[in-house]
Amino acid sequence: MKIDFTEPSLTKTATIVLGVPAGNRLSPAAVALDDAMEGAIAHAIRVGHFEGKRKQFLQFPAPAKGPVGQIVLVGLGEAKRLSVKDFQDIGGKIFGYLNAAREARGTLVVEALVGCRVKPEVIAANLAYGARLSSYRFDKYRTEKTRDAHNPPTLKRLSIQVKGVAKAKNCYAPLEKISDGVFLTRDLVSEPANVLFPEALAKEAMKLRRLGVEVEVLDEKDMARLGMGALLGVAQGSVRKPRLVTLRWLGAKRAKDKRPLALVGKGVTFDSGGISIKPSAHMEDMKWDMGGSAVVLGVIRALAARKARVNVVGVIGLTENMPSGTAQRPGDVVTSMSGQTIEVINTDAEGRLVLADALWYCQERFKPQAIIDLATLTGAIIVALGMEYAGLLANDTKLATKLTKAGEAEGERLWRLPLDKVYDKDIDSDIADMKNVGSGRGAGSITAAQFLKRFVQEGVPWAHIDIAGVTWANRSKPTVPKGGTAFGVRLLHRFIADNYEAG
Ligand code: BES
Ligand code: MN
Ligand code: ZN
Repeated sequence: MKIDFTEPSLTKTATIVLGVPAGNRLSPAAVALDDAMEGAIAHAIRVGHFEGKRKQFLQFPAPAKGPVGQIVLVGLGEAKRLSVKDFQDIGGKIFGYLNAAREARGTLVVEALVGCRVKPEVIAANLAYGARLSSYRFDKYRTEKTRDAHNPPTLKRLSIQVKGVAKAKNCYAPLEKISDGVFLTRDLVSEPANVLFPEALAKEAMKLRRLGVEVEVLDEKDMARLGMGALLGVAQGSVRKPRLVTLRWLGAKRAKDKRPLALVGKGVTFDSGGISIKPSAHMEDMKWDMGGSAVVLGVIRALAARKARVNVVGVIGLTENMPSGTAQRPGDVVTSMSGQTIEVINTDAEGRLVLADALWYCQERFKPQAIIDLATLTGAIIVALGMEYAGLLANDTKLATKLTKAGEAEGERLWRLPLDKVYDKDIDSDIADMKNVGSGRGAGSITAAQFLKRFVQEGVPWAHIDIAGVTWANRSKPTVPKGGTAFGVRLLHRFIADNYEAG
């Protein structure tokens, strides 16, 4: 879908979309249009029982002699309550509506809204952003045969009419880059594991070099030399070789901003469980067990594309978790890069093994000012929080608060769970420094995080985001079509822009 911003003007063929706040107070442009159509809008509002409530739509053809083709009214609700995020959602809803109506084009008219805090150019840009986010589809594997039966989007162009086109374009430019990052993540998460295996994902990371990102790829020999026994233990069951990728976006100009922020991602391109094999029902979902690493790539893509003045490094541990004659066994003991030994009780608790080495490597190599890891780590987080909130576990309350705030603003919400010594003893092993699953049955997401914490060095602010419940959606939301959500990209992008980026 193409999006453009133009100065207000009307054409005979256009489908005009007008926002109407609660109580049906029409904007000056809507009043002018209503006059030009001899009261057709006011008439439709009366006859159609339109009240301007959020999510209410009313569509009607304009009179044949009038200046436009047809009108779509969109209810906005109370103007004074509308936030930037609300306009994104409304943009997504408008896309969905026009598409369901099988329209090829739409024209949105944006004006100052009485009582609303958000400026018209910001409204215009965020309507566009929301529409674009909701237009995403992953249909590369559909041939002509089934594509049409599947109702592909018809909307090819969305024109946004607003006074002050230049300002609206400026406001939209970075949002477009963020949505490019979101789309990269959604694409990667949606790819099947026969296509997207560790080497293939590393290649995708290398494509970010075009945007000025420094990308390094370690193979299994490099990792063996570094002593990454935990990650390599997971990888040894698969014929697909593991990779560890580091990405550096170095955009900071001032010396005091140079110490990087680090993002670490779990990149298990398929998690069969290994010898502790998973049940077959829904095992296909485990193609998206690399969701954490895909978010890291999406965020870095967005930052690089808009040349953000910040230093961010990414480390993603890429491997497949498969059962085979070479696979690691329950009971095996591996030595991580940190030197700590791990008794592998359950080969399906592989994410923490991958992250243990990725986290340690990241800290040794980059000495980051803070570290955030993302992982589809535990089924237990789905039991606790379902598919709305991601889990947040952190050793630093300031960091946790900043992340939570960024998530609220972006509609990617986090709920904090505790870290505590009392859970830590659950992962003590009889023969090694620790084991990879807890002894008790409860608190699976917490014991997983306690495990990770043992690989976080003294004094490093660290947060772990468990995205197992939110990486894939079975139902669409206004700006998130069902499928891969890219949950975390918008959140982390805002978190970085608001807290680390030089003004
Ligand atoms: N990738 C899974 C977690 C997962 C489960 C993500 C369901 C998304 C949906 C992870 O590697 C895993 O298998 N975790 C185990 C840990 C257990 C063995 C302690 C789990 O949650 O069952
Ligand atoms: Mn697993
Ligand atoms: Zn996993």
